[in-house]
Amino acid sequence: MAVVEVTHPLVRHKLGLLRDASTGPALFRQISAEIATLLAYEATADLGLDDRAIDTWAGPLTVGRCDQDAITLVPILRAGLGFLPGVQALLPNAPVSVIGLRRDEQTLQPHAYYQRFVERIAGRTALLIDPMLATGGSALAAIDALKAAGVARVKAIFLVSAPEGLRALEARHPDVAIWTAAIDERLNDHGYILPGLGDAGDRLFNTPA
Ligand code: PRP
Ligand code: URA
Repeated sequence: MAVVEVTHPLVRHKLGLLRDASTGPALFRQISAEIATLLAYEATADLGLDDRAIDTWAGPLTVGRCDQDAITLVPILRAGLGFLPGVQALLPNAPVSVIGLRRDEQTLQPHAYYQRFVERIAGRTALLIDPMLATGGSALAAIDALKAAGVARVKAIFLVSAPEGLRALEARHPDVAIWTAAIDERLNDHGYILPGLGDAGDRLFNTPA
C-alpha cells in the first residue's frame, strides 16, 4: 500500500498549531482546511487531463482540463466535513458523496448511520476524507462501502494516522493510496492517537465531551 507522509515545512507548521490544545474551533477548522488543500494537492498529482480547444487573445489553443466528474469526494461524517472545504478549494466541482460513521467509544467499532453517494459512482476515483485514522475501523467500513458501490479506485487523505490504522488498511485494502500529514506513535487504551489531536470532531465543532 502506498503511504505518503507529507512532511513539507508548511504542513508541519500548521499541524503543530493544531496540536496546541489552546487552538480553538475556528482556527482549528481553518488550519485543518489549509492542510487538506496541501494533502489534496499531493493526492491529485496524477489526475488525468482532457484536451480542450479554446480561443485565446492570440488565437486557438488546446489546453488541459480536469474531468472533475471522474472523481467523487467522500468525507466521513462528521469530522470529515471539517476537512472537505480545503479539498473543494482545489476541486470545486467534484461531486460529493458522504458516509456517516460514528465510532462506539467502548467497542471502538464504527456504527454506520447515513450514506448518500453520488449517482453513477461506479468507475469513479473516490477521494476519502477524514482527519483521523485511528484503529482504521471507520476507514475500512467506508472503503468497503465505496468498493461495493463500484468505485474504480480509492485514495485517502488523513490529517493524522496511527500505525495500527495503517496496518489494518494495508491488510484489507492494499490497493488504496494514502496521504497523511503525520504518522503518529500509537493508540492509547481508549483508541485515541498519541500524540494526535484529541477528538477531532469535538475540536472542529466545539462539542467537548
Ligand atoms: C473519528 C474520526 C474517524 C474515526 C477514527 O470520528 O473522524 O472517523 O473517529 O477512528 P477509527 O479509525 O478508530 O475508526 P468519530 O467516530 O469520533 O465521529 P465524529 O466524526 O462524528 O466525531
Ligand atoms: N478519533 C479522533 O477524533 N481522535 C482520535 O485520536 C481517534 C479517533
